[in-house]
Amino acid sequence: MATIAVIGGGTMGGGIAQINAMRGFDTILYDVDDETVNRSLQKIQATIRKGVELGKTQPADADSALARLRGAARLADLAPADLSIEAVPEKLDLKRDLFAQLDTILKPHALLATNTSSLSVTALAAATRRPEKVLGLHFFNPPHLMALVEVVRGDSTSQATMDAGVAYTRAIGKTPVVCKDTPAFIVNRVARPFYGEALRLLGENAADVPTIDSLVKTLGFRMGPFELIDLIGLDVNFAVTQSTYNAFFHEPKYRPHPIQQKMVEAGLLGRKTKKGFYEYP
Ligand SMILES: NC(=O)c1ccc[n+]([C@@H]2O[C@H](COP(=O)([O-])OP(=O)(O)OC[C@H]3O[C@@H](n4cnc5c(N)ncnc54)[C@H](O)[C@@H]3O)[C@@H](O)[C@H]2O)c1
Repeated sequence: MATIAVIGGGTMGGGIAQINAMRGFDTILYDVDDETVNRSLQKIQATIRKGVELGKTQPADADSALARLRGAARLADLAPADLSIEAVPEKLDLKRDLFAQLDTILKPHALLATNTSSLSVTALAAATRRPEKVLGLHFFNPPHLMALVEVVRGDSTSQATMDAGVAYTRAIGKTPVVCKDTPAFIVNRVARPFYGEALRLLGENAADVPTIDSLVKTLGFRMGPFELIDLIGLDVNFAVTQSTYNAFFHEPKYRPHPIQQKMVEAGLLGRKTKKGFYEYP
């Protein structure tokens, strides 16, 4: 694999593009919104330069990483990619439509990966004529710091694709964990009650946001549930909870909370809008 296409330049796509460029892959970043591509490229540039200032990155490595990274104005510009990694919003129809388009654009040998947190890899694969070449590569936030990548085997994914996914994950310095295509895979399924119970406690006025977060951190967690939801994005976290709840036929333990719905509707999405459960002036 030499060239990687990343689709979606938001919270996850930008970070995934950065890792790939730093690890020696030619990287093409596309977003439906041109401004997002530019903003994301600038952010990556600033992060890499900061690494040089801090002595973590050699100037020559930074220069070659930046030379390997470029933006794309059209989906068709992703044609040279050997692997595409999709990181667009958590909506099945949107992702299926994108996979169908990528299938017609990418070369026959190319693999198509999704960074979905909860949706079915098998359903996305079915939108293509190469379901054996579709897999999940689920990165965690922030991608440049989090070691784990869930490598998800859809029902039609071939062993060769899984082997390539695992080898690629190691090549970018991450730790692959092979998962079945089950709703929310492993980490996000385990994490649903972490967010859900915290929201229910808040809804019952059992404690306020900082109290719940600080108590959870005394157990050894790096972040409390509300700090983490703000980092993830309330919209993204809510979409993942909704899709998990629906995938398990309204299993009560995954039920979304009205507090979060109201905040999403009000545009209080966390760090990315500078206001969520906390403010980020
Ligand atoms: N935020 C997290 O902590 C996190 C962690 C792991 C996985 N994920 C998953 O990654 C995916 C993306 O999440 P995010 O937090 O980066 O979302 P985000 O909202 O920050 O970014 C999504 C980007 O996709 C772009 N987009 C929308 N439609 C598009 C299209 N048709 N083609 C190209 N670009 C399009 C948007 O303009 C936006 O820039 C989701 O599936 C999410 O579940 C998120």
